[in-house]
Amino acid sequence: MSKEPEVSNEETLDPEDWESLRVLGHRMLDDALDYQRTVRERPPWQHAPDEVAKHFRTPLPLDPQTPEDVYEEFLKYVLPYPVGNIHPRFWGWVFGNGTVFAAFAEMMAAAMNSNSGGLDYHSANYVEQQVIDWVKEMLKYPLAASGLLTSGCSAANLIGLTVARNAKAGHDIRREGLTAGGRRMMLYASSEIHSSIAKAVELLGLGHDSLRLVPVNANFQIDIELLKEAIDQDRCEGHQPFCVIGAAGTTNTGAIDDLKALADICELEDLWLHVDGAFGAWAALVPEERQKLAGMERADSLALDMHKWMYLPYEIGLILVRSEEDHRKAFSMTPAYLAHGEGGRGMTGGDLPWLSDYGFQLSRGFRALKAWMSLKEHGVSKYSRLIRQNIEQARYLGELIEASLELELAARLHLMLSVSVCQSGRAG
Ligand SMILES: Cc1ncc(COP(=O)(O)O)c(C=O)c1O
Repeated sequence: MSKEPEVSNEETLDPEDWESLRVLGHRMLDDALDYQRTVRERPPWQHAPDEVAKHFRTPLPLDPQTPEDVYEEFLKYVLPYPVGNIHPRFWGWVFGNGTVFAAFAEMMAAAMNSNSGGLDYHSANYVEQQVIDWVKEMLKYPLAASGLLTSGCSAANLIGLTVARNAKAGHDIRREGLTAGGRRMMLYASSEIHSSIAKAVELLGLGHDSLRLVPVNANFQIDIELLKEAIDQDRCEGHQPFCVIGAAGTTNTGAIDDLKALADICELEDLWLHVDGAFGAWAALVPEERQKLAGMERADSLALDMHKWMYLPYEIGLILVRSEEDHRKAFSMTPAYLAHGEGGRGMTGGDLPWLSDYGFQLSRGFRALKAWMSLKEHGVSKYSRLIRQNIEQARYLGELIEASLELELAARLHLMLSVSVCQSGRAG
């Protein structure tokens, strides 16, 4: 008789003592709440001393420590030295501050540890699809569009431009590669466009110089006449213009390109319109600002961040693509071990597409939960009021700067935003 193999199942990563971990977990939750509640009592940022830097050069832990000890280390070396963006007086760059309830949502999402890349009839897919649908409704983007939550707007820009490149190449670029087209594929954006666009262009193998940076007018918007000239000139030189990237809120000044004019040009010239709306697109939630974003709803793809002006904790961005088919065709790949139904539908005839068919990641976290819970917690009208409040704060700052003898207002604020909008939903 053959001997049964002896396989141990004694070694696991489960807590050794569930009850003591429960006590620690409750303490961690209390600490997280107190940390956020008392944020105003601390400076936004303090220089981490050398001792802290040294601590992170200690050897690889081969043997276990108790969770309590590990947590003590966290309290000493990690928690006191944040970037600072959760503080109400952190006004640098375009950082959001996150919210308490969304942090709890992150904890629950981690506890479920759902992989949102695919499979059928599980809740994370429904939650993500609903968040995507809600965003389309909030921004008045076509409801038939497809979408995907991403790590941020850099990833959203990369996905949007991938779909644009593949849809406009004129040949099967996934199979034959870029060179099969014979002509250089050109993109156009203002000189104020975010660097993530240039990175995406490089990653897509198009070459940095294929991105024509068109000068801006006095309002820091892309100069429409110069854009048309650049497209004409490239056509004359035998290149293949395929995409215009509009800015809905530039990083430097919050400038919004004339998106209507860009949409008209793209329609006329048969070009893809991609809009980088990282933070500025959300101004569409404020009725009196919406007009400035007119034309955004005509974009073929729209890249957004939710960890900026939607106040969610990092990381969460979003890409919307008008043509679901183009979107899926750019990314869908179905080896036998991922076999699922037609049109991206599920393995067991599921009712939702596999989200991994709409981006470059297969495994994906459950980042939708914090968006879903936060939108329900506050309601969209509150976001609208908050964004309006931020715009008023930016205008007020502009007035103070104009009245000051020492400061000079570098960009006029009639464009809606100043660089200080980012300090978001937390009263200072
Ligand atoms: C206009 C704009 N686009 C894209 C990005 C990149 O977004 P993320 O940092 O989420 O990747 C930013 C970041 O500040 C931005 O301001």
